[in-house]
Amino acid sequence: MKHLSAVKALAFLASGALAVKISEIQGIAFQSPLAGQFVHGLTGVVTAKDKYGIWIQDQRTDDPRASNGIRVYGANVKSANVGDLISLSGRVAEYRRSVADLFLTEIDYVTELTTISRGHTVVPLVLGEDRTPPSKQLSALDVGRDGWLSVPSNLTLLEVVNATLRPDEFGLDFWESLEGQLVTVKSPTAAQFPDRFGSVWVYGNWPTTGRNERGGRTIHFNGPNEAPPAHPEAIFIGRPLDGTRNPKAVMGAVLSDITGVVTYQFGAYYVLPLTAPDVVKFPDFTVPPSTVNSTSHPCQIRIGDYNVENMNPRSYHIPKIAAHIAHHLHTPDLVFVQEIQDDSGPRNDGTVSADRTLRALANAIKRASGGVEYAFVNVEPEDNKDGGQPGGNIRVAYLYRPDKVSLLPGTIGDATASTVPVIDSEGNLELSFNPGRIDPEHSAWEEARKPLAAAWQTASGVRFYTVNVHFSSKRFSSPPQGNARPPVNGGWEKRTSQANVTARFVSSILDLAADASVVVAGDMNEFTAARSVLRPLAALLHDANDVAGVPAAERYTYAYDQHAQEIDQVFVSDAVARRRGDVEHVHVNTWAKTVGERASDHDPTVVRLWVCDAEADAVSPGEEYGNDHGQTAFNS
Ligand SMILES: *[C@@H]1O[C@H](CO)[C@@H](O)[C@H](O)[C@H]1NC(C)=O
Ligand SMILES: *[C@@H]1O[C@H](CO)[C@@H](O)[C@H](O)[C@H]1NC(C)=O
Ligand SMILES: *[C@@H]1O[C@H](CO)[C@@H](O)[C@H](O)[C@H]1NC(C)=O
Ligand SMILES: *[C@@H]1O[C@H](CO)[C@@H](O)[C@H](O)[C@H]1NC(C)=O
Repeated sequence: MKHLSAVKALAFLASGALAVKISEIQGIAFQSPLAGQFVHGLTGVVTAKDKYGIWIQDQRTDDPRASNGIRVYGANVKSANVGDLISLSGRVAEYRRSVADLFLTEIDYVTELTTISRGHTVVPLVLGEDRTPPSKQLSALDVGRDGWLSVPSNLTLLEVVNATLRPDEFGLDFWESLEGQLVTVKSPTAAQFPDRFGSVWVYGNWPTTGRNERGGRTIHFNGPNEAPPAHPEAIFIGRPLDGTRNPKAVMGAVLSDITGVVTYQFGAYYVLPLTAPDVVKFPDFTVPPSTVNSTSHPCQIRIGDYNVENMNPRSYHIPKIAAHIAHHLHTPDLVFVQEIQDDSGPRNDGTVSADRTLRALANAIKRASGGVEYAFVNVEPEDNKDGGQPGGNIRVAYLYRPDKVSLLPGTIGDATASTVPVIDSEGNLELSFNPGRIDPEHSAWEEARKPLAAAWQTASGVRFYTVNVHFSSKRFSSPPQGNARPPVNGGWEKRTSQANVTARFVSSILDLAADASVVVAGDMNEFTAARSVLRPLAALLHDANDVAGVPAAERYTYAYDQHAQEIDQVFVSDAVARRRGDVEHVHVNTWAKTVGERASDHDPTVVRLWVCDAEADAVSPGEEYGNDHGQTAFNS
């Protein structure tokens, strides 16, 4: 095998254009110092090839910031083969598909391509050994207490700053410093399913943060003063260059070693593998049922929370969701559901009732559980006023077991009625509409799902209050590895204001009854690590995960990009938090075998909470509770 040391000696000069090394083109900043200029006599060994061109590499320099590999673009360069030492002339270009992206430095308009010799081998850089990615933030420009999740976002554009690379500290800088180079990732672990193009995020055998028991990496923060890590140490594995296909990976699957070239495309740094890896080891696909499986005390309730993804009466996934509620969540007393569509599903025909959808789900749970009956309640939205799939009229709803809990008697609100807490003639707290929407005409809820508040009592007559929410989505976010710094967290203003209106309502309950048991839960489309957005709720209530001591890395209900993440949250009032409780996120969907086998894109959560003190004597005898789990007497 010939060695790269030959390269330098073979460089030749010609008049006009610059004669440079690849590292001089790549430079030590995000954009090339030679962008737009023509270079001549550029030499390198071809490391990889695709239908749009090749990658070449010359000798490494002492400066790890300056990459010694580069993309060469154009149909006319494909005559060169992997292993060829070539020389060429061309233009240095900074390419990107969208202004939201970073630039890829490449050579285009190639002429004078000459093969000098063949059969060279380029030894790939072994990531985790030769170079190791940093594991905290993506960019020095992600200023703010929450790092990459800080708002306001998009304060700076990386292309304008064109920072000098700090690859030991920041992920974008690290991967940029390897742009165009051949690298090896040993024993990668998949972060989650591949995307629809077959690309899969992986973590190599180097230091990472947020590792959960499954092998994914969860977004979390390590303390009040530390910004939540952005998992910059993950790398996206793109389409294999030899036309093979990446395997159907899942969170925690261990893959065979990957060798490929580092590039930037579609808003992220990628390694394009020379050939597809195999799955060396799959995790166990059995999802154990929740251990939050029974209530043994009349003061305890079990609540499930599940975004059931655009469910209508004809949805194929109803039996799967029902089986999850029956077998994995053990038919909780109360289930908060989100994304219940109207009875005609996405047909845009003016239908707003969801009774048939909810009936279909309740019937399916009854079948799956061998007879557990659920009643349901929701408030019909105005047609096409709440966002989501047009005509679908998604809304939040409650399913509840009448043998366990009942709504306090009252009047159900309508789409525009705002419920408020009031004190009844006996001095007890109730809601003016039960259930009722919270301030539905507030601008926070424009084109958004309105939260549904409800007042309940247990079979022993203990009251508690719930709010089921589905905040606006993160649509129109910018790519975390993109130009806008900090990256745009789509819809954050809207969610902040929705959290504020929701918190204001809960405050109005606590103003009347400081010791009220209140549970606010649902799809908040936000991480608690994005502290500013959920601050109104977090400042007033307690994250149920904290109450139950769920380890930070196990707090996830969703997988997105390289992250496991919790966007479905449960918050509880002081009175509930004080009595402790249990919380489990049941990974029936993030642990599925394939994307297609999931019942929803979200995992459900189940909690067991206390709505009165175990020692309280104001509870009725526990006969009703005996049937389930053998406890027949309570505090009598
Ligand atoms: C980026 O930074 C490099 C190195 O400082 C400089 O040579 C180049 O001109 C800069 N490019 C732009 C577009 O700012
Ligand atoms: C509840 O979970 C515990 C712990 O996993 C288990 O020992 C018990 O058998 C379960 N009970 C029911 C009713 O499933
Ligand atoms: C970020 O701000 C720039 C203006 O500085 C704007 O052109 C761009 O569209 C914004 N990006 C996003 C994703 O909102
Ligand atoms: C909601 O926002 C208003 C106005 O910014 C602020 O004064 C209030 O404290 C916020 N309420 C909560 C509960 O966060």
